[in-house]
Amino acid sequence: MSTIPEMPAREVPDRVRQGSHSPIQSLDDWRRSWMAARDNPDGFWLRESQARLAWQTPPTQGLRGDFHTIADSQVSWFADGTLNVTESCLDQHLATRGDKVAILWEGDEPGVTRALTYRELYVEVCRTAAALRSLGVQKGERVIIYMGMVPEAAIAMLACARIGAVHSVVFGGFSAEALRDRIRDCAAEVIITQDEGLRGGRVIPLKATCDDACVGERHVRKVLVYQHTSAPVDWLPERDVWWHEALADVAVSELPAVPCVAEDPLFVLYTSGSTGRPKGLVHTCAGYLTWASYTHEVVFDLREDDVYACMADVGWITGHTYIVYGPLCNGATTLMFESTPLYPDAGRYWDIVARHGVTVFYTAPTAIRALAAQGDGFVTDYDRSSLRVLGTVGEPINPEAWEWYYDVVGEGRCNIVDTWWQTETGGIAITPIAPATPTKPGSATFAMPAIVPVIVNDEAQPVVGPGEGRLCLAQPWPGMARTVWGDHERYVSTYFSTFPGFYFTGDGCRRDAEGYHFITGRVDDVLNVSGHRMGTAEFEAVLISVEAIAEAGVVGFPHPIKGQGVYAYVVLQPGVHDETRLLAAANAACRNQIGAHARIDVVQVVPGLPKTRSGKVMRRILRKIAEGAPEQLGDLSTLADPGVVVAIIAGSRR
Ligand code: WTA
Repeated sequence: MSTIPEMPAREVPDRVRQGSHSPIQSLDDWRRSWMAARDNPDGFWLRESQARLAWQTPPTQGLRGDFHTIADSQVSWFADGTLNVTESCLDQHLATRGDKVAILWEGDEPGVTRALTYRELYVEVCRTAAALRSLGVQKGERVIIYMGMVPEAAIAMLACARIGAVHSVVFGGFSAEALRDRIRDCAAEVIITQDEGLRGGRVIPLKATCDDACVGERHVRKVLVYQHTSAPVDWLPERDVWWHEALADVAVSELPAVPCVAEDPLFVLYTSGSTGRPKGLVHTCAGYLTWASYTHEVVFDLREDDVYACMADVGWITGHTYIVYGPLCNGATTLMFESTPLYPDAGRYWDIVARHGVTVFYTAPTAIRALAAQGDGFVTDYDRSSLRVLGTVGEPINPEAWEWYYDVVGEGRCNIVDTWWQTETGGIAITPIAPATPTKPGSATFAMPAIVPVIVNDEAQPVVGPGEGRLCLAQPWPGMARTVWGDHERYVSTYFSTFPGFYFTGDGCRRDAEGYHFITGRVDDVLNVSGHRMGTAEFEAVLISVEAIAEAGVVGFPHPIKGQGVYAYVVLQPGVHDETRLLAAANAACRNQIGAHARIDVVQVVPGLPKTRSGKVMRRILRKIAEGAPEQLGDLSTLADPGVVVAIIAGSRR
């Protein structure tokens, strides 16, 4: 049990209800909805899905399947309904919101902006969909999207959805090798990219990296290239097609949406786990979109005239759900940002808030910590009076960063929502609801309707009342990932075998006497560095590919800005003694094989890794030493060679 003293909850500062249609405005509303969704999930979610989505054939079935039978049959929601998600995100708004701005874009340089109305976005999506079709893209086929933060990335996603193709967005920071793995895993034949991306004044050679990824990949038929910077790029005439030329060739401004069944895959998104290569999680059309729409409206208490800004990248799940699908399904104005919080200086976010009149702002704790470290002046220089709700996502937020966000950014009058969720959950799962939930700094508070959290202790027993343990979810919810692309067995063994009957999140969690949840971080071998999710196994695979390195063990350690840093213990090859440039060599390999966001902070050369007599690396020991807490190593009696630990502690770099 934790010894952290319990805090009183803070009252909700802004209870103005003007213009909100969200069904949850008070804790009583939340309690009623939560019970209704638990006791009658079919009734609750059929109603929500029918109110939110534009169906071609409305569903009569709600939930089918459960966590006990998931090895044999996937969970499904609304299985007999048919729809095309783009009709919910575009067509259904044309009559009432055709001239409302759908996507508001702020480029890398301050003040470089574009605005697309719902009607304009609709036309662009239809034209792009027609262009994809003319490239031969079929329903159900996978299309990789490897782009930066330009509106065309969202257009590409929706264009795929319009014709029933399955998109897989790969974050533009990933290397050619990582991109190639993903192209192969989902057997994509068409890729959408752009000449270059821009970020923080730097150029990202997306087309060139894409070319590298495609070397030898004969099954890649077409690469559609959006021209952003107009830099010269290499060109394979039989394969490469300019976006603007392909669109000029299709003389349409409308394209009927291809009917899909509710459980058709909408997208595959790769994410890191504790072992092996990243998994392609599959999200399906109707359940995902219902969840995206419901959570986006309810958590942020969406209003018709909101200017809603999520600072994530479309390459991650947050960008999918809370830049593209949730806001567009809800008819909101969603801001897309190409740059970084520090470019050209630490005032950039608040400059955007002031210039665009942002009302709801959603970012990651790592950005908040980095900005807080630059001083308050960068914030107070700008008018933030438009702000109403401030959100965070991606990692635990420490109470100091929370307080700074609340007091300095929000001037003590905005509602803070610390939203816990995962690629697997599709949307926000544990969170304050802006107008309803009294908050506690550092707490994601309570579960959304349909989410039934269970904390499991070391004896694999559910904790009743306050306590700490592993976080599981006990019931299916509409937005859950249905499977791993091409490997349902891996899905079942990763998420449903640790605690049979429960979905295991991989996170630790503490619950206080008032039922508030505090997420304590990953309890498995997944790292969360600056909100980027990476597997220790991925780093280890890269390290042993470095010539000088024979063995490697990688763990996380607490980092004041990034949340976690990456600590690598390496055993050198026999005869290798030169340790200079080891970190540089390791990081060059990480950049090549994963991407520029994968960086090791510390390399320590060790005589051996601590292993059990059966040869298993005892990662717990490595973790404690990296955390600077070697006195908490616990029982070492199962080690094959305890002397190794003494040497590691002596050489520790922390
Ligand atoms: C972590 C991002 C604490 C958590 C949406 C989870 C959080 C992982 C929070 C998923 C939060 C996300 N508080 N931890 N509010 N939000 N996490 O798949 O460890 O990139 O398991 O999805 O991020 O990362 P992913």
